[in-house]
Amino acid sequence: MDNVTEQKKIMLSGIKPTGDLTLGSYLGAIKNWAERAEQFDCYYFMADLHALTTRNKPADLRRRTLEQLAQYIACGLDPQKNTLFLQSDVHEHAELGWILNCYTMFGELSRMTQFKDKSSKNADNINGGLFTYPALMAADILLYQPDYVPVGEDQKQHVELTRDIAQRFNNLYGETFKVPEPWIPKVGARVMDLLDPLSKMSKSDEVGNGRICLMDDPADILRKFKRAVTDSDNGDGCVRYDPENKPGVANLMQIYSACTGRTYSEIEAEFVHSGYGVFKPAVGEAVVETLRPIREEANRIISDKAYIQGIYADGAKKASYIAGKTLRKVYKKIGLVEKPF
Ligand code: TRP
Repeated sequence: MDNVTEQKKIMLSGIKPTGDLTLGSYLGAIKNWAERAEQFDCYYFMADLHALTTRNKPADLRRRTLEQLAQYIACGLDPQKNTLFLQSDVHEHAELGWILNCYTMFGELSRMTQFKDKSSKNADNINGGLFTYPALMAADILLYQPDYVPVGEDQKQHVELTRDIAQRFNNLYGETFKVPEPWIPKVGARVMDLLDPLSKMSKSDEVGNGRICLMDDPADILRKFKRAVTDSDNGDGCVRYDPENKPGVANLMQIYSACTGRTYSEIEAEFVHSGYGVFKPAVGEAVVETLRPIREEANRIISDKAYIQGIYADGAKKASYIAGKTLRKVYKKIGLVEKPF
């Protein structure tokens, strides 16, 4: 058995550098990503080309891309164990993206719910990139021949389209792409907005007070938790887990539980003699302590330019090697003349 090295399965995902990462992104998802690297060969890239489908200030996009990378590393994605890179550093993405555009049907792209959603919300900027971006996403994925693509429910349709494109290409030209599976990770905590506990704490939400960002300073975090909505209008004022009737309290309990490891009944017992006035700041404190090391580490990484550049340079080198192999195979199969250099 010793000479048989078992190949780990490959996992790949892209993360758009738009909006700030929130407590919801951390507790619900990123927190559990570190351990994936034990089982899978993981690739994560900052999808900066995808961010161009909406207008950004150039300086903001640049800053966000690097900040986001730093935050993921600070959340536990070890650059020694995962391949981390920027999409625009690996030119094969854009190149295969164009080619796959020619194997993706207008009708398919028209059916994408995200396109319909986004174009109705941004009627003044329905650009070609917004429409064809699933073809670029297919390229992002297929370049690396991954087995699994972990995505949120909202991206599943795009991974399914990727599978269709891969199969179509393979049928025309012979086995070229591995057909990947979408992988919808079990959500850790589903963290809701502090002011509107019926909607998710979202990363792109513009209004800040119901949302905790990973980089928020402690005073802001405490202030936001003190203002969190509970059931003071019609409830009994007790810290009790009842998501249906007390969604705000249930959300706070869930956050507290995720940060401290305590169960709901332990939390109920802890606050049985105190009201929300004690409970809410306690949740705030627990969140402050959970996020403190992440914020400090992310700030350290961002300010150490050489370190972070080294990470995405190494990542891009490794990614380019694999992406280049796939792209050469594709060029040859579709009839592009072999490069003379
Ligand atoms: N479209 C994804 C999103 O909006 C981001 C993304 C781009 C992606 N390329 C990808 C995700 C490839 C998984 C695989 O969240």
